[in-house]
Amino acid sequence: MTKKGKHTVLFICLGNICRSPAGEGIMKSLVEKAGLQDEFEIDSAGIGNWHVGQLPDSRMRKCGAEHGYNFNSHARQFQKSDFGRFETIVVMDNENYRAITSMASCQADKDKVVRMADYFSRHAGERIVPDPYYGGPEDFELALDLIEDGCRGILAQCRAAE
Ligand code: 4NP
Repeated sequence: MTKKGKHTVLFICLGNICRSPAGEGIMKSLVEKAGLQDEFEIDSAGIGNWHVGQLPDSRMRKCGAEHGYNFNSHARQFQKSDFGRFETIVVMDNENYRAITSMASCQADKDKVVRMADYFSRHAGERIVPDPYYGGPEDFELALDLIEDGCRGILAQCRAAE
């Protein structure tokens, strides 16, 4: 719980067109299904600025649609000010972790950065959500499956904290 009594969760990946928009879309869907949309603020952002303004990659949108999700956010770049807006900043891999924590200006902000893998249950033991961008459909499927697993864990932890 944080400011305004809401859980504020920001999903991060490199480009904000594959993994983190899937995190945003899946988390929003889970929260909505639980009737908790008023208690959450959920967003996503990328480390790079190459895809700013774009919808998620068509391969991730297709994969999401096949699993009942609509990924329709527009890419934006992470800003240092996001540390002030979000209590939980969820990164997909170790490069993401290094990039975001290196922008933190205090330990409290650094502590907001967590790995999606920390919340895995079905995939316990895996340490990252691999980047599917240069891969095939099976890589998008795996990313979506890992992200679903992690988002369920994040929701469970938020509910347990209430
Ligand atoms: P994402 O995937 O970080 O999951 O959005 C990528 C998207 C674009 C690029 C790399 C990864 N890129 O190099 O443009």
